[in-house]
Amino acid sequence: MKMWSGRFREPLDPFFDQWQRSLPFDWQLLTEEVAASRAHALALQAAGVLTDSEGSEIRAALLGILDEYSGKLHDVASHADAEDIHHFVELKLAERIGDLGLKLHTGRSRNEQIATDLRLHVRARIHELRRLLADWGGALLKQAKDAGEAVMPSYTHLQRAEPVLVAHWLLAYVQMILRDANRLEDCSKRLNFCPLGSGAIAGATLALDRNIATKELGFIAPTANSMDATSDRDFAIEFLQVLTILALHASRFAEEITLFATAEFGFVDLPEAFSTGSSAMPQKKNPDLTELVRAKVGRIHGAAEAATLQLKGLPLAYNKDLQETQEPVFQAGAETVRMLRVLADFTAAIRFRDDRMRAACSEGFLNAMAAATYLVHKGVPFRKAHEKIGSAVRYCLERNCELGDITLEELKQFGPEFETDFFAAITLEATLDCHDVYGGTARARVQDAIAAAEQSIGNLTQSVEVVHAGA
Ligand code: ARG
Repeated sequence: MKMWSGRFREPLDPFFDQWQRSLPFDWQLLTEEVAASRAHALALQAAGVLTDSEGSEIRAALLGILDEYSGKLHDVASHADAEDIHHFVELKLAERIGDLGLKLHTGRSRNEQIATDLRLHVRARIHELRRLLADWGGALLKQAKDAGEAVMPSYTHLQRAEPVLVAHWLLAYVQMILRDANRLEDCSKRLNFCPLGSGAIAGATLALDRNIATKELGFIAPTANSMDATSDRDFAIEFLQVLTILALHASRFAEEITLFATAEFGFVDLPEAFSTGSSAMPQKKNPDLTELVRAKVGRIHGAAEAATLQLKGLPLAYNKDLQETQEPVFQAGAETVRMLRVLADFTAAIRFRDDRMRAACSEGFLNAMAAATYLVHKGVPFRKAHEKIGSAVRYCLERNCELGDITLEELKQFGPEFETDFFAAITLEATLDCHDVYGGTARARVQDAIAAAEQSIGNLTQSVEVVHAGA
């Protein structure tokens, strides 16, 4: 039975009928639809529309539907008659409890139902994603701890800049992850209002106590305006934009690993369990995992764009266009879940080639900044120090050697300030430790940073262990 056949005399065109349905994708909202329907039944009960026993019967039957179908979602998706998940649950309810089931739709509209279900879905996804971010962050942190005093060149313009601790580089990604987790949390807080009671557009036609469903579903408060509540998809766009930033971070990490795994860099040994071979070239071990991660941001950003354009210029309030925003949300969410999962396991399995990274730090004048800083400590203004070290670098370039290879006499041509302690000031360790500021790569600072990151990742892990009511 259709939900709205009363005023129609002609049947729907069969192809159009199939084409306009959302069940092929909104079956993913079964849990949410059941939760929201149960909450609505409670509100109807309080309003006296359902007796207590009717309310209980409906609520139990709804749970029964969830039990029966949560392991058979394929059957939900392929149901022959249902137009969408709301219709599906209504049909199944009537099958179970007859006409009593039809009472559930009193005082509500699918417009508020989908607004509610999608909020619940995004909220649960955010929870899951924050947990996965904690896992990936934890894997990076473990690598940072294991790296000890391993060093690597840092790059600006993809040219070697200064040596840094490998741990310092890894912790840069932990910072990005913590911001992503924060942005997701913000998004979750902003969406956490309950549309139930908004009706089709103008508010429920029953004096429902909206706080009942709000509380039952773990929302903070009822939404304040029924026209906004039934047409708002800001939370979907915000979610997708946050995922875009997250995917950008993953993409940058993936690109660095891809580069570092080349023979030219040789900093990283790709784990065999996460690499693939070439059908043509027997010697190859390819970084397919990081290449795919590098690319995923394309479709995730695509989803954000799609949802944004779907909403452009939409008049208030509900329009069927809104149905189109669901798939980008489902797809980008699921894609990000899978990507984070593979990234966490992959990150834990990476092996760094400390010898190669250290060797890369020992040539190419990565200690030039430290050398200039040495002169600054001798009272030379930085601009002058920069020039003197620049000339010394040029001198070495012509001799194919490094700053540490020339004698004090040779150095003195560039400035009388050079003394024997110069050589101790430009060792690899000194080059690291001269960055002795909060957030810098000095060894002691990185130890502090590891402790701080451990605390933050620990907090994040803890925050996702508390499960939302109704999520
Ligand atoms: N399947 C619909 C959607 O996802 C549910 C709301 C339908 N409302 C309506 N007035 N046709 O948007």
